[in-house]
Amino acid sequence: MKNILITGGTGFIGSHTCLSFLEEGFNITIIDSLKNSSKAVLKGIKEILELTNNYNEKKINFYEGDVRNRAFLKEVFLKAKKKNKPIDAVIHFAGLKAIQESTLKPILYWDVNVNGSINLFKIMEENNCTTILFSSSATVYGDSQEIPFKESALVKPFNTYGYTKAAVENILNNIFNADCSRWRIGNLRYFNPIGSHPSGLIGENPNSKSENIFPNICQVASGLRDKLHIFGNDWPTPDGTCYRDYIHIVDLAEIHKKTLKFLFNKKSINITLNIGKGNSCSVLELINTFERVNNIKINYEFTSRRVGDIAIYYADTTKIYNLLNWKPLKSIDDMCKDGWNWQKKLLSG
Ligand code: NAD
Ligand code: UD1
Repeated sequence: MKNILITGGTGFIGSHTCLSFLEEGFNITIIDSLKNSSKAVLKGIKEILELTNNYNEKKINFYEGDVRNRAFLKEVFLKAKKKNKPIDAVIHFAGLKAIQESTLKPILYWDVNVNGSINLFKIMEENNCTTILFSSSATVYGDSQEIPFKESALVKPFNTYGYTKAAVENILNNIFNADCSRWRIGNLRYFNPIGSHPSGLIGENPNSKSENIFPNICQVASGLRDKLHIFGNDWPTPDGTCYRDYIHIVDLAEIHKKTLKFLFNKKSINITLNIGKGNSCSVLELINTFERVNNIKINYEFTSRRVGDIAIYYADTTKIYNLLNWKPLKSIDDMCKDGWNWQKKLLSG
């Protein structure tokens, strides 16, 4: 079975993706600096797999380290070779993702997100490993105004985080154009992943300064925050709040497996795909759903609009549907139920 290197594999999306690959018998090699995650995630993955007698510790290798560290990366590839399980493909999640922080710390964001990626691509090439899925973001569309966004829409980011994601997409395009006979590249533009594995054994573990809506709702529900600030009720939308394309994290994880298998069947390819549900839900609808399915009240108040927000943002998912015959299965109800289930377990330790 193939060995997949998953950078940032103990993070929110990485952990669910690791699980999805392990469930199907892949070998995985995880690297993570643990800057925004913890090794406890590995225990959660193990417990989930044990529920179905599917755990095999030989199939997981974890290395703590930074993608910017060349010697470290070289060593990881070498160790995999020595074990007779060379890295067949990479899924590159490792990076920093907070939009506000990125505007305050641009050097850090360019260094981690772009230098870290260049470092990784160099080592991949040296090891003749030329299959990669890259975690890009819908944020690269910026305010290019073609909603829903098709993959062909103008790339027009307007924050540092978005610039770094667009830069890595460009680097990958350049790599492919220079040597299109052997690279297999999947560039995945995620919309808004939320929720967690239904077991409640792995999930998102944001820090207290989280900027994103779903962790903030959970923090209010669990008493870690007094109230949720809804950024604006005067948007040109049906209920005055912003609309987003939320997708369940388990659906998002699954699509990595499906896309990577698709790449493995090609000699060479460079493809960009939107990963979303293809429809949108307002902030108020999300809160109402969370309250209804979990029977819990969310204390909120309206405040002024957040700088950089856009009224409606969702994916045109025709391309991925036509190519991979894939549609996300889970509903907003599932996202709210599963996300809260994880948050409750987190609170109880
Ligand atoms: P996350 O912070 O939970 O996971 C990222 C992981 O990378 C963390 O475990 C962190 O410790 C690790 N990491 C950070 N810097 C590192 C470094 N220099 N070397 C090695 N490891 C490092 O974030 P996530 O939500 O799982 O996002 C994963 C990827 O998907 C990121 O690249 C992010 O930009 C992208 N993305 C996320 C979202 C989202 O809403 N969560 C949306 C679009 C794109
Ligand atoms: C943004 C990026 C996305 C990125 C994600 C993670 C865009 C269009 N999207 O998503 O690519 O991966 O951040 O950093 O740039 N909200 C509140 N109160 C809160 C938090 C959020 O009302 O406390 C509102 C926001 O105004 C927005 C919605 O909830 O309308 C979703 O916000 P958020 O979860 O931060 O995600 P995006 O900004 O859509």
